[in-house]
Amino acid sequence: METIHILNGPNLNLLGMRETNIYGHKTINDLEDMCRRRASENGFQVVFKQTNSESTLVDFIQEAIGKSSAIIINAAAYTHTSIAILDALKSFAGYVVEVHISDISKREEFRKFSFVSLRADLVIQGLGLDGYIEAIDKVVEKKVNK
Ligand code: DQA
Repeated sequence: METIHILNGPNLNLLGMRETNIYGHKTINDLEDMCRRRASENGFQVVFKQTNSESTLVDFIQEAIGKSSAIIINAAAYTHTSIAILDALKSFAGYVVEVHISDISKREEFRKFSFVSLRADLVIQGLGLDGYIEAIDKVVEKKVNK
């Protein structure tokens, strides 16, 4: 069975409590359940992780190398700052989908630039948690069309 790594960066552990006007009321556990369900309906298994640490996020990306056909990543604030995460993603040969719950193009100036976008094959933003489901669907489509 093919695997998808779904990786989440800092403060996403606070989903459901944090700036609910932007990120909504669902928790990270709800998100994980939604992702696992959608992936398994389509014959994929999921490695779902969250960390507040940049180095751990790099480690998670490296763990996907040779194991997963795709990474779906919401690097959260590290999106806008981390060359280390970009470099790790460049070492991964599979499909990369960058997800943001909010539409980062419509927020503060400092959120408009994304290092992750320099490697991502696809960017999905502003769809709320459904953006992760859309990302899984795109990974599935990619496999079907191979
Ligand atoms: C985010 C957007 C980032 O700018 C922010 O730092 C986050 C979450 C999003 O999902 O909309 O923590 O990645």
